Amino acid sequence: MEPTINRGLDGINIDTSQICSIDGMKGELIYRGYDISELADKVSLEEVIYLLWEGELPDRQQLDAFRQELSELFTVPTEVIDIFRTLPKDAHPMHAMRTAVSALASFDENPDDVGAANIRRIGAKLVAQFPTFTAAFERIRNGQEPIDPDPGLSIAGNFLFMLSGERPSEAATKVMDVALVLHAEHGTNASTFVARATASTLTDVYSAITAAVSSLKGPLHGGANTAVMQTLEQIGSVEGIEPYVLDTLSQPGGRIMGFGHRVYRVLDPRAIILKEVSRHLAQESGDSKWFEMSLEMERVMDREMARDGKQIKPNVDFFSASVYRMLGFPSDMYTPIFAVARISGWMAHLYEQYGDNRIMRPRLIYEGPMGRAFKPLGER
Ligand SMILES: CC(C)(COP(=O)(O)OP(=O)(O)OC[C@H]1O[C@@H](n2cnc3c(N)ncnc32)[C@H](O)[C@@H]1OP(=O)(O)O)[C@@H](O)C(=O)NCCC(=O)NCCS
Repeated sequence: MEPTINRGLDGINIDTSQICSIDGMKGELIYRGYDISELADKVSLEEVIYLLWEGELPDRQQLDAFRQELSELFTVPTEVIDIFRTLPKDAHPMHAMRTAVSALASFDENPDDVGAANIRRIGAKLVAQFPTFTAAFERIRNGQEPIDPDPGLSIAGNFLFMLSGERPSEAATKVMDVALVLHAEHGTNASTFVARATASTLTDVYSAITAAVSSLKGPLHGGANTAVMQTLEQIGSVEGIEPYVLDTLSQPGGRIMGFGHRVYRVLDPRAIILKEVSRHLAQESGDSKWFEMSLEMERVMDREMARDGKQIKPNVDFFSASVYRMLGFPSDMYTPIFAVARISGWMAHLYEQYGDNRIMRPRLIYEGPMGRAFKPLGER
């Protein structure tokens, strides 16, 4: 019998999980039993993290205690921030992030213990510190000094505050919070799988998260939001969209960034919400260019994909690009923002993985030559 090959691990179940359910035919995303479209604008990121980690939404007292725990961990060791000062000003923010996570391990008092209590301690620290070092890198590369976190602010509010130095409006904080909630968790996506596979060797949390950050950076995964904005910037106008899409699709393997998904066959529920956020921001700001261009791209892609009988719809990265643009972020910061959210999902998965581990060891079907006669160096 021919061995089965599932390229890209398509359709492979690696374990059971209690964290997240995705129905790609219905366009449904569930965090611990709650539909994302209900959670998105009703709960804060802190509540979602608590839900992902503890399995239940917190009550008031639990939420206050969790917020307090995180706020005491916001500050990143100066030595880690100082590494950013030694990087070239044009270093990719994801390279800087990966370096920061890796460096944090050496400043942790107990990085290698993968027992439940210790990894929960490290998880809180990473969730609290991702926004701090991401904002610090952005300021340092712009020749500005980092801003200390404000323990009185939420993760979303603090992130905006540490980037600009100004207290963010309630509206901007809310948009940031919704975007982070939508990006917090998504099952066995590539970076989460990488985190789990890395942890399955029983290496430390920092190594697993460094690997996850590396995986997220790719343009087929978290790097797509940056690629979407770069594409829109390159096209520059609504009129330029149709020729760009037609030209790209006419090339072998041509892809439009921000479209398509391994699991969803209908519209990604996160894209539905972000599309409305983008529409709202465009109306509020009076700068509708990026939203209009996105709508046009969706229209042309719908038509072209239907012609080819394909179900290729906008994914989470598509409308998050225009949302982040209207919030004023530079395009290469979009993927780091994704990581600021996804660290919570990565950690939820690491708790499961370390809690009931089996090393991940898939196989490849060898198709290379066999039985070759060896020749010593001088005879080759
Ligand atoms: C997300 C992604 C990697 C999923 O890949 P996948 O599950 O392996 O899907 P495939 O690459 O097998 O694509 C299936 C078909 O749809 C087409 N397709 C998929 N995404 C496409 C896109 N963004 N633009 C144009 N065509 C696309 C493929 O060309 C392929 O066509 P074919 O069967 O004629 O060869 C893929 O859709 C993609 O590259 N999207 C762009 C990057 C992106 O936005 N990533 C973020 C994901 S949240």
